[in-house]
Amino acid sequence: MESPNLLLLLLLLAVAAFAATGDAYGKFRHLHLYSRNSEPARSVDLHRNNSFGNILAFDNVLQEGPDPSSRVIARPQGMAVIADLTGANAFTAYTITFIAGEFNGSSLSVLGLTTMTGVSDRSIVGGTGYFRTARGYILSQNIDVGMEDYNIYITFS
Ligand SMILES: *[C@@H]1O[C@H](CO)[C@@H](O)[C@H](O)[C@H]1NC(C)=O
Ligand SMILES: *[C@@H]1O[C@H](CO)[C@@H](O)[C@H](O)[C@H]1NC(C)=O
Repeated sequence: MESPNLLLLLLLLAVAAFAATGDAYGKFRHLHLYSRNSEPARSVDLHRNNSFGNILAFDNVLQEGPDPSSRVIARPQGMAVIADLTGANAFTAYTITFIAGEFNGSSLSVLGLTTMTGVSDRSIVGGTGYFRTARGYILSQNIDVGMEDYNIYITFS
């Protein structure tokens, strides 16, 4: 019985040491930005009796403030597919590429549903540069035509 207990003790000590030094996702950032839709958006409209199946490519901007002249920090570039028969939600897959500020050159990979009404809650599934191995989520909400209040919560190593 001695050695299994010793092994367990060593394992617990190793876990404690790891916890004390911080885990792999020790850094956290919250970025509060405003997303503005690009004009014109390009879409594939199937011209059916509802929007199900339509696809939109977008290259939007994320700005520091709600004002149109506010500094552009990043560009969310990717696609949305109306993958919900009711047309109320779209599946989105995109990259947020930072083009200014302290994260310039780094990017975040995002997957998830966007909803026309209420808060969209999407996953950050990875990143590049500063955000390599990032995880997190994005909460966004329409506050005006073509504009969203956009909160990015990121943990990374
Ligand atoms: C829309 O078209 C689909 C496929 O043709 C059909 O199954 C559905 O009932 C239609 N819906 C309405 C509201 O007309
Ligand atoms: C962002 O980085 C690129 C490439 O290094 C550089 O050309 C550009 O001037 C930078 N932009 C800002 C606003 O710092």
